[in-house]
Amino acid sequence: MCGIVGYIGKDNNAGEVLLEGLKRLEYRGYDSAGICVMSGNKSKTFKAVGKVVELEKKIGKYRTDTTMGIAHTRWATHGKPSVKNAHPHSSGKIHLVHNGIIENYQELKEKLIKKGHKFSSETDSEVVAHLIDEYSNKNDFEQAVFAALQDIRGAYALVMLSEDEPEKMIAVRNSSPLVIGVADDGFVLASDASAIIQHTDKVVYLDDEELVIFTPETYKVKTFAGRNKYKKEQTLEWNDEQAQKEGYKHFMLKEIFEQPSAVADAIRGRIIVKDGLAKLGGLVDVEDKLRDIKRIVIVSCGTSYCAGLVGEYMLEEYAGIPTEVEYASEFRYRKPLIDKKTAVIAISQSGETADTLAAIREAKNKGGLTLGIVNAVGSTIARETDAGIYNHAGPEVGVASTKAFTSQLSILVLLTVFLGRQRDMSLTMGKKILSELNKLPKKIDEIFEDGKNIKRIANKYTKYESMFYLGRKYNFPIAMEGALKIKEISYIHAEGYPSGEMKHGPIALIDKDFPSVILAPKDSVYDKTLSAIEEIKARGGKVVAITTVGNEEKIKKHANDVIEIPKTLEMLTPLLAVVPLQLLAYYAGVKKGFDVDKPRNLAKSVTVE
Ligand code: F6R
Repeated sequence: MCGIVGYIGKDNNAGEVLLEGLKRLEYRGYDSAGICVMSGNKSKTFKAVGKVVELEKKIGKYRTDTTMGIAHTRWATHGKPSVKNAHPHSSGKIHLVHNGIIENYQELKEKLIKKGHKFSSETDSEVVAHLIDEYSNKNDFEQAVFAALQDIRGAYALVMLSEDEPEKMIAVRNSSPLVIGVADDGFVLASDASAIIQHTDKVVYLDDEELVIFTPETYKVKTFAGRNKYKKEQTLEWNDEQAQKEGYKHFMLKEIFEQPSAVADAIRGRIIVKDGLAKLGGLVDVEDKLRDIKRIVIVSCGTSYCAGLVGEYMLEEYAGIPTEVEYASEFRYRKPLIDKKTAVIAISQSGETADTLAAIREAKNKGGLTLGIVNAVGSTIARETDAGIYNHAGPEVGVASTKAFTSQLSILVLLTVFLGRQRDMSLTMGKKILSELNKLPKKIDEIFEDGKNIKRIANKYTKYESMFYLGRKYNFPIAMEGALKIKEISYIHAEGYPSGEMKHGPIALIDKDFPSVILAPKDSVYDKTLSAIEEIKARGGKVVAITTVGNEEKIKKHANDVIEIPKTLEMLTPLLAVVPLQLLAYYAGVKKGFDVDKPRNLAKSVTVE
């Protein structure tokens, strides 16, 4: 999730406008930044690793004397944070910035290399600059962009310049955000309105498959099919901070709502449904070693630990590999039995968690094959593991992890299919899992339609001081994650417990003031879960049940309140069941007046032991 900005107009300080815009977009990613400004038909590009201030030090006099330019603040997806991987990317006289993922960049890159193109970065984005450059041999700028769009697949917002047509800027949007600001002196466009509102409150929101051609005086929107499109200008009513949150009250809520795209981005370009295969580029180098692996140990902390537990169920059931999950903070203080037939997988959003890093170092020391499932590209865990898979979830600003979790689960599904198909998982099973995984972004969206009901339930239960979160099989880890969320955000004491284990002691706590949230989807353990509900009801406890759509009426006989989730494969229910629990925690925290984005005593990345 990078941030992009473009400016074209009559004002003579494009550099200034772009730098200011980048600073406001830094929350979208900040591992490197770059800018390309034009003066006449001469371009000048500057790049720097780190925050925008590093770039600012380099740009000097080009802050002014420039009437057009593009800029980018990066959150790495393909290629580590470095000057050469920073945007803008160029080929010949074409310069561009990109936010998103080009799924088929490898095959396009190979074709372009054969035609003599020389690449200077490891990014997927650079391929688009070369493609447009290639088409520019026989076409004008606009035609070359249209031609390139026919070839690229994936999610992208692009802003492009050509030194051959210095009075023109072209932007496109497909599944990555892009907003146009219509100011008195020109046009500012950006990934979100926070980089625009200091210039104008008049905006145009682009839709997917739209292309815009700007000159300093005017702009024209076309569809990818080449038809002109009328777009209505709207008036922004947000302040700076609201704009960064895209109108959501908190980053946590925004990130909960970003989960359909976080899941889509995690699986984008990594699924070949017809062959029932997961294509994981980051594992290519260790593919053969993985074939010989006899055991998996997952090490992680907090929410990432809960993701690991779901992974254990998936990997054992569908890939047939014995799997254990360890709190990373415990791992190196006992004597972990690791050998070269063991794969040790670190799951970490930040890639910097000290406990997880130490566990990985210990595993390496013992000769294990180390893998990372990491969101932050180029982070220490990503660098120190032998191989890995990036989440592509974009930066998570809210301290409580939400979209990183569903993204981690999506990767674990891909890994299960990858390892399963190396072993005895059938083609039919591979296809079944992957085609259902593909449907999850839409199914998560459906849960949001029940938002009012979830908020009502959260408001009703915030008065309690303690709660149980119970689940069985695939949803036991989700009970743990739900309990962790409500603890962190609303400071309600909660225990995440296996629903079948509760009767062995904790049930003593149940009374009318100790409610339980129970994960009760219609799965293979549904009847057992119903028994747990009955045991709680018999002791006067209140129950909130999370169940599968269509089962509401039946479960209402047992539960006080019900939240429905769409139907899916049992192994995928955690990706849906966690969403209402995140919302319950969020609304409870808001109701109690807490700062849900920065809960007390917590840090986003725990880099100390
Ligand atoms: C909970 C939360 C933490 C992190 C944990 C591990 O909402 O955010 O429990 O999951 O500190 O962090 P990463 O995944 O960065 O290693």
